[in-house]
Amino acid sequence: MSRLKVAVVGAGTMGTVHSEAYREMADVDLVGILDIRPEAAQRLAARRETAAYTTLNALIQAAQPDVVDVCVPTYLHRQVVEAAAVAGCHVICEKPIARTLADAEAMIRVCQAAGVKLYIAHVVRFFPEYRRAHDLVCDGAVGRVGVVRAMRGGAFPVGWEDWYANVAKCGTVIVDSMIHDFDFLRWCFGEVDRVYAKSQLGRDMVQSDHAFVSLRFQNGVIAHVEGTWAYPSGFYTELEMAGAKGLIEFRSQDAIAVHTQIRQSERAHAGVQVPESPLVKSPYQLELEHFLECIRRDVQPLVTAEDACKALEISLAALASARAGKPVRLAQTPNTTASVQERLTRGNQDD
Ligand SMILES: NC(=O)c1ccc[n+]([C@@H]2O[C@H](COP(=O)([O-])OP(=O)(O)OC[C@H]3O[C@@H](n4cnc5c(N)ncnc54)[C@H](O)[C@@H]3O)[C@@H](O)[C@H]2O)c1
Repeated sequence: MSRLKVAVVGAGTMGTVHSEAYREMADVDLVGILDIRPEAAQRLAARRETAAYTTLNALIQAAQPDVVDVCVPTYLHRQVVEAAAVAGCHVICEKPIARTLADAEAMIRVCQAAGVKLYIAHVVRFFPEYRRAHDLVCDGAVGRVGVVRAMRGGAFPVGWEDWYANVAKCGTVIVDSMIHDFDFLRWCFGEVDRVYAKSQLGRDMVQSDHAFVSLRFQNGVIAHVEGTWAYPSGFYTELEMAGAKGLIEFRSQDAIAVHTQIRQSERAHAGVQVPESPLVKSPYQLELEHFLECIRRDVQPLVTAEDACKALEISLAALASARAGKPVRLAQTPNTTASVQERLTRGNQDD
């Protein structure tokens, strides 16, 4: 199975990004774009020189994809993922895996029962700067890490039917955006013990959201994660990891020579600001190529659906903490990232 037939469901911001990546891959046939809005499906399909569909049944019957890539709003992931899996297609799905843990767990069960793979697109693990920071930490380069600060933010996202402004559909900046950092930090430091969060709680129609989340990991690391959808425009990330022997720092703004922020009307720039990449291959392409390679070789991906469930659990705990105004403890699961623990222990011994 060297060539793979891939179809993209959802012709919004991420469907555009993913379909562009597939067009760059020599061993992939982009066999269709599906959107319930015919004009959106046709517009993107024409740009990518492929066929447009408005129902999954029609897409699967006509195009017979090996892989369905789900880029619909988060609260709709379950219905599309399950339908694609039952039809026998491997599934790639944007993060967060789902809006609720019940949906996420059901999606994993249905894919397992159907004998197909499920990959959740936690793309931060594929950003070279974040991957380098992960590897440095795990190799003990800065010794035992004590405190971490992460920031991620930009303008308020605009989506189909304004679903980002609806807490029940999107889960605020905490579930939609900060989940990237929660997954990345869990990859570095293992399981989270408890979280404490303050946020605007994404009040509907305000078109502004901001949150601070403190996480305490089982291994003692403390992280402070800030997420914002209150900037006039743009998209920025920052990372600082302080260890006994040194500091790892990254600011996405440092890569830009001139900064301009001009407030645009919400409708003038429909979509979500995704990070720009000066790399030959964007992190999105690296991520999607990795998932397709895992299908071809039948190997474990860098990020599993279970990892995505854990990231959602942390996000939902933070949301619950912001609502309750007190810390929330996560269900105590043993640290599964044994290699990370082993390496951190090695870092400790070096101190
Ligand atoms: N990894 C990242 O960096 C990143 C960035 C932005 C968004 N996301 C995630 O990607 C997903 C999609 O977000 P978006 O910003 O592209 O949304 P969007 O609103 O821009 O696009 C969603 C599209 O899905 C279509 N749609 C709705 N229901 C459908 C259905 N049942 N079948 C087919 N099409 C349907 C809509 O018409 C719309 O075109 C979300 O889960 C979001 O959290 C990830």
